[in-house]
Amino acid sequence: VRSAAQSALERLIVDVPDYPQAGVVFKDITPLLADHDGFTAVVEGLAGAGRGTDGATVVDKVVGMEARGFILAAPVALALGAGFVPVRKAGKLPRETHAVSYSLEYGEATLELHRDAVQPGDRVLLVDDVLATGGTVAATRELVERCGGTVVGVAVLMELSFLPGRDAVGDVPLTSLLTI
Ligand code: PRP
Repeated sequence: VRSAAQSALERLIVDVPDYPQAGVVFKDITPLLADHDGFTAVVEGLAGAGRGTDGATVVDKVVGMEARGFILAAPVALALGAGFVPVRKAGKLPRETHAVSYSLEYGEATLELHRDAVQPGDRVLLVDDVLATGGTVAATRELVERCGGTVVGVAVLMELSFLPGRDAVGDVPLTSLLTI
């Protein structure tokens, strides 16, 4: 069942058939980002995953995954009074990194995190636009754990429920504002 708020958000996401390849329906969130009320609602909804029942922030860092994850994770970090940390595709971070590779439908992808970006004991919220197969979230969790941090929550704008992303998240609470 869709709430009125969820339906309003969904109307701002445009389906693009056969992009980037035939048979795939791409979810274009740029109209949602361009809508101040919509963007505000999304940031507040995702930030809720980093707050305790009393409303206080329970995370030290918010990690966003390149590229669309950056757009959402940075304002969530500011809303929570936490630091923002980027997880980037291979070869983009200039200092010492941890790297994790994972398989895609065709081929492999590698994500990297600066070794000192997450400190041992840091409580971390992962924020991204879409949870699909869960490969990105699982690799990012591994990167955070290699730094000694703990992933205490995963928050995404959209969860594609026909893919097994939720299983890949594992035993960490998952917040998805929309399930598709
Ligand atoms: C998309 C999306 C997520 C990821 C989800 O990123 O923004 O990060 O895929 O898929 P998964 O759950 O199957 O891992 P993409 O790699 O297309 O990068 P972009 O944000 O740079 O377009």
